[in-house]
Amino acid sequence: MILALLAAATVAIPAGDSVHGGQLYQGCMGCHSLDENDVGPKHRGVVGRAAGAVPGYAYSKALKGSGLTWTPAMLDQWLTNPQALVPGSKMYFRLTKPQDRADIIAYLAKQK
Ligand code: HEC
Repeated sequence: MILALLAAATVAIPAGDSVHGGQLYQGCMGCHSLDENDVGPKHRGVVGRAAGAVPGYAYSKALKGSGLTWTPAMLDQWLTNPQALVPGSKMYFRLTKPQDRADIIAYLAKQK
């Protein structure tokens, strides 16, 4: 029982490798870039920012009104399944591997 609890506690977000995250970010660039709004909003400074806050980008009402802040943990949930975190949002892209999510979040955290 104690072992099971310990095992569950270690299933936290893994440490991220920002260099690998930068490579994986290529997969986001069909819709996003750091400095230009595109299909999706620009990303520079996103870690720690309120959701739906980039000027000049036409967000869904759902994300705009979500009241979320993009902490690493929140980004992890978003990238796991945006539609589950914010029903009615308009990003349809998911990252199934926890390590990939952690790496991309580590990369984004450096893009200030
Ligand atoms: C197929 C297009 C597409 C891809 C690929 C995509 N996104 Fe998005 N993303 C969007 C759209 C569209 C929105 C706006 C969602 C809304 O307004 O509901 C968005 C919103 C976001 C937001 C919220 C930003 C804010 O200002 O609130 C984050 C963070 C984000 N995407 C991260 C990523 C990351 C990281 C990847 C790559 C792993 C990625 N997205 C891949 C289309 C995409």
